[in-house]
Parts: sequence; C-alpha cells; structure tokens
Amino acid sequence: MLGKLNHVALVVPDLAAAADEWRGRLGASVSAPQALPEHGVTVVFIDTGNSKIELLEPLGEDSPIARFLDRNPDGGMHHLCFEVEDIIASRDHLLAEGARVLGDGEPRTGAHGKPVLFLHPKDWAGTLIELEQV
Ligand code: CO
Repeated sequence: MLGKLNHVALVVPDLAAAADEWRGRLGASVSAPQALPEHGVTVVFIDTGNSKIELLEPLGEDSPIARFLDRNPDGGMHHLCFEVEDIIASRDHLLAEGARVLGDGEPRTGAHGKPVLFLHPKDWAGTLIELEQV
C-alpha cells in the first residue's frame, strides 16, 4: 500500500526568509510561493531529486498550522507525505487495521490538486502522516 515518500513538510515562521536560506545556503531549487487559502497555508516546494521538501507558512486568521507555530516558534517538521495508488482502499485498509484517520475520513484536495488524507500522529510515533493519491 505504501508508496514513495512524496514530501517532508516543515512549518516555518517566514516563508520568504526560509526559501532564501534553502536557495542561498543549500543551493536548492525552490518553487514560487503558492497561496492555498482553502488550506490556510502558503507553500513552496523544494525538489531534492528523490523527494521534496514542502515549506509551509500560515495564511489567514484560522490557519491550521498557526497553533503549531505557537508551540514551535522556530518552526519544525509538520508531516510526512506518502504516495498511495488508491486513497479510499488505503483508508479502508488502515481503518480495518485500527489506525485513525483525521477529520471526517473523506479525502480533500491537497496542494498538488490530488486527493489527500491525514493519519493521527498518535498512531505513528507522534508524526502526522499525509497520504496522497497519485
Ligand atoms: Co503535505
């Protein structure tokens, strides 16, 4: 069921500054910022060849990552995203295995325009897991 690691997401307090760090100090290839008001975030993607790093900055008043930044003012790792072929089959399999899916369990459209679901961090050593159908 588990496919490739699609990206590792980091929440940052200042997206432009973080993009400059990755571009300038690491020579990384950083995408243009993309505002996703329906998700309450602005994102850039960094292509690492075998995977991607997603940098997330809160957007708007009730951004779902604002609380994360309150607890981690310097930013930090927010989630891992794995590819799956069939998100509904993956969800049903995980639920049958006793894993918890966040929200109402219905996939939403993620940053790449593809269906995504999130798994409860308490089931995965405190790590939020995103599944993306590719
Ligand atoms: Co993500």
